Amino acid sequence: MELYTPEMLISEEEIALRISELGKAITADFQNQDLVVICVLKGAFMFCSDLIKKINLPLKLEFISLSSYGDSTQSSGNVRLEMDITANIEGKNVLIVEDIVDSGLTIKTLMEMLDLRKPKDVRLASLLFKPVKLKHKVKIDYLGFEIEDKFVIGYGLDYAGRYRELPYIGVLNAGN
Ligand code: IMP
Ligand code: MG
Repeated sequence: MELYTPEMLISEEEIALRISELGKAITADFQNQDLVVICVLKGAFMFCSDLIKKINLPLKLEFISLSSYGDSTQSSGNVRLEMDITANIEGKNVLIVEDIVDSGLTIKTLMEMLDLRKPKDVRLASLLFKPVKLKHKVKIDYLGFEIEDKFVIGYGLDYAGRYRELPYIGVLNAGN
């Protein structure tokens, strides 16, 4: 079996600390309101699972699956809906939970798709943001970390389906 330990960029401890802060902010902002959390699969599954544990509100959890990347580190430029949510979000407060905003295309497309369903409010929580690559206007309401233009893996994020299980955010390099 192959052994690998990709270089660490953000540790488990740093991630946990930041998620506690985001959870507190979300809890305060949505006090006494309904909240539908939409986890964007697959990349956001770990972030979303840790984040909702820090949100002290009655919420409903939904999953959506979008894909904009094939097995490459470059965006393909089109976003496909692979699996939709099952809840009706009309009149509801929605919190999208995403792993990373890169060009912004995935989130822009998702927001447009959800807007047609007339939610009361749609906000975005993203663990990571790569400002260098941004092409579409995206407002991140709850951001974990801004990062440099490096392809990152771990804590849910993958390269060609691998590395999602790493407990920290690492950098993909030739050695991996
Ligand atoms: P965007 O549509 O260009 O903003 O890309 C967003 C999607 O691309 C994210 O949901 C990720 O799944 C994927 N992605 C972008 N950058 C990275 C990266 O550095 N590592 C792993 N996945 C990434
Ligand atoms: Mg992805």
